[in-house]
Amino acid sequence: MALKLVLLAVALLAVWSPPPVTATVTYDHGSFVINGRRKILISGSIHYPRSTPEMWPDLIQKAKDGGLDVIQTYVFWNGHEPSPGQYYFGGRYDLVRFLKLVKQAGLYAHLRIGPYVCAEWNFGGFPVWLKYVPGISFRTDNGPFKAAMGKFTAMIVSMMKAEGLYESQGGPIILSQIENEYGPLESYNGASGKSYSYWAAKMAVGLKTGVPWVMCKQDDAPDPVINSCNGFYCDNFSPNKPYKPKMWTEAWSGWFTGFGGPVPHRPAEDLAFAVARFVQKGGSFINYYMYHGGTNFGRTAGGPFITTSYDYDAPIDEYGLLRQPKWGHLRDLHKAIKLCEPALVYGNPTVTALGHYQESHVYRSKSSCAAFLANFDSQSYATVAFNGMHYNLPPWSVSILPNCKTTVFNTARVGSQSATMKMQRLGGFSWKAYTENTESLSDKTFTKVGLLEQLNTTWDNSDYLWYTTYVDIAKDEEFLKSGRYPYLTVMSAGHSLHVFINGRWSGSAHGELENPKLTYTGNAELWEGSNKISILSVSCGLPNVGNHFETWNTGVLGPVTLTGLNKGKRDLSWQKWTYQIGLHGENLNLHSLTGSSNVEWGEASQKQPLTWYKTFFNAPEGNEPLALDMGSMGKGQVWINGQSIGRYWPAYKASGSCGACDYRGPYSHNKCQTNCGEASQQWYHVPRSWLSPTGNFLVVLEEWGGDPSGISMVKRSVGSVCAKVEEWQPTMENWYTKAYGRPKVHLSCDRGQKITNIKFASFGTPQGTCGSFSEGRCHAHKSYDAFEENCVGKQFCSVVVLPEVFGGDPCPGTMKKIAVEAVCE
Ligand SMILES: *[C@@H]1O[C@H](CO)[C@@H](O)[C@H](O)[C@H]1NC(C)=O
Repeated sequence: MALKLVLLAVALLAVWSPPPVTATVTYDHGSFVINGRRKILISGSIHYPRSTPEMWPDLIQKAKDGGLDVIQTYVFWNGHEPSPGQYYFGGRYDLVRFLKLVKQAGLYAHLRIGPYVCAEWNFGGFPVWLKYVPGISFRTDNGPFKAAMGKFTAMIVSMMKAEGLYESQGGPIILSQIENEYGPLESYNGASGKSYSYWAAKMAVGLKTGVPWVMCKQDDAPDPVINSCNGFYCDNFSPNKPYKPKMWTEAWSGWFTGFGGPVPHRPAEDLAFAVARFVQKGGSFINYYMYHGGTNFGRTAGGPFITTSYDYDAPIDEYGLLRQPKWGHLRDLHKAIKLCEPALVYGNPTVTALGHYQESHVYRSKSSCAAFLANFDSQSYATVAFNGMHYNLPPWSVSILPNCKTTVFNTARVGSQSATMKMQRLGGFSWKAYTENTESLSDKTFTKVGLLEQLNTTWDNSDYLWYTTYVDIAKDEEFLKSGRYPYLTVMSAGHSLHVFINGRWSGSAHGELENPKLTYTGNAELWEGSNKISILSVSCGLPNVGNHFETWNTGVLGPVTLTGLNKGKRDLSWQKWTYQIGLHGENLNLHSLTGSSNVEWGEASQKQPLTWYKTFFNAPEGNEPLALDMGSMGKGQVWINGQSIGRYWPAYKASGSCGACDYRGPYSHNKCQTNCGEASQQWYHVPRSWLSPTGNFLVVLEEWGGDPSGISMVKRSVGSVCAKVEEWQPTMENWYTKAYGRPKVHLSCDRGQKITNIKFASFGTPQGTCGSFSEGRCHAHKSYDAFEENCVGKQFCSVVVLPEVFGGDPCPGTMKKIAVEAVCE
């Protein structure tokens, strides 16, 4: 590892004393107040180690363009303190650089120090060594834990102060978080849980940052710490004191993916509805979790079984491209909310029922009035009377009226363009192979009686732990004649394993997202005399959530038994086992250029389990994001120029239910899913900045025996953009009518692209969604012409939605809309 370790914090703490800070960020029940200004704050989570520093400026700019005021991130302890007292703040862990970019963009930051972060991140962000501090017990009133947590938190705070990063010092940080979602665990830990959370609050406040502290999902957060809500919906949440603002620290924009599970999606209309309802009911701080999810590079994914992609169906996708229409629809929502800000920030709305499932909230200040009209009927449209006018509200929607009269936005009417993405194959590689040595163990082995717990043995320095033992088979064993081999049974606490008998692969098994434990059973093709049984136990991300997950076990804890011998069953659990941490190839650093010269590489011919593959390639031209298509492979890890892209496991097909998705009605993470029956993750993000123009070194470690000839580099870009815009109605205004008098269709391809073709256009009653539009009964015959003239050959274009533009009204008296799909290349 080329980690640049910095011994920094100890020095900082010793010589540096913080300048006095004054409270410039305060709050009351209406909102946060920053330097005397009340604000409705829109925030989004971007976790710095889940993208590269080269990507950060663009991600932050796209967040700003999307209408965000704040960037929220956790602080990842295990990334910053890989071994006790040795700190690392370089590369993707350069927190200060990240926060300075946030500041440069003119945005605020919410720093969730934790240091427990959950986050589908390995061990919830705790360094593994922390488990081995004598007498420690995580996240409860325990001396060694509090000492370590207090020390790390104080170190981060003093680093932020030294860099002038708190708002009170002119920096971007307006809020901090201590602990994380502890409320639900507090009762499990009894009195110790309660005193721990109070200690955490007091410790944090004592660090005098000059900005408020937040504890999310912590109903009893003591003053002045603010308790906040996390969830798909938080409109029914109230803070624990009437003088605290209503905060939503995690508005889940989607959900994470696990290997073997489908990919969750949250409709933009429902997310906008949830956020608008929250603001309607007095919410003044909303953070999207995630706004950009990014990638779990290396072995940072939590778990077990969290995928390398942490896309999260966020408004900015894993690759840093806009996810449309989600990004655009939320941007339009944020504009509408900001128009209401002057009235919203004082709170105290007047609430009126407008029907069974309809209600209005009206906010007034001296000079302004803003209204939110909700229809939370999950089936039907409603027409409501409000302020002397009639308003048509789609099901499960909120209309926003910044002047209490004009609807500028409705959460169910998506005015923003949508897009389909394409993954363009760029060709394959020619590979050299090296098969992992499973015959003889290296000299770095040790022998013990009995089976060892895996984490206690590896300290997570590798996913792999070999368990090897010997079994003597006497000449008179019946199976030697009958050929009915005995059965080997291996009970493991997780997460997967491979069995080798006398050096030959014999079988594999794995646990699942919901239950990492597994039992392997298979024929043991033993011979007369001494036999070697080797079990390769593989971990796939340490747990990141659950009460005292630090005590959970991994690896082969047994029993390990043979059945079908002359004497029946033989228990192997308590014999001598020889252990080796990591694969031979890992210990030789085969993933690096220098390490790879330690072995002889041959032709890549058969599909073999436990094989290393290597190749060289030149960086593809252009600047589109890149990925490796690993669809032909089983399970393993990939490195480029020595850096790990992450774990891959496309052979584990997603099971679950995928089907039609209706935005209406309460969302849950398994409501709208894709990829059922396919790989949970086929594409693996390759950051552009990791590549040189030529001679890039690519190494794959395949555990199962995939087909490397199927691996290819792919480029991700916008394939087509679509829009669906209703013609003008007297009761409804929107952004376009405000600006132009009549609605307009706006289409925009990505940087460097042009519209090459109009795939579909219909003014009338078109149906379907982007990628599968079809004409309805009513269709204007010149629908295509307007777009072909105005759009083809351009990166952006706009067309006014007026019947004349499309050759005249095709069906007078019918409500019409235009649907268009344009191809980007
Ligand atoms: C693993 O190590 C911890 C801490 O040293 C210890 O308490 C625990 O009993 C060990 N677990 C097993 C299964 O050996």
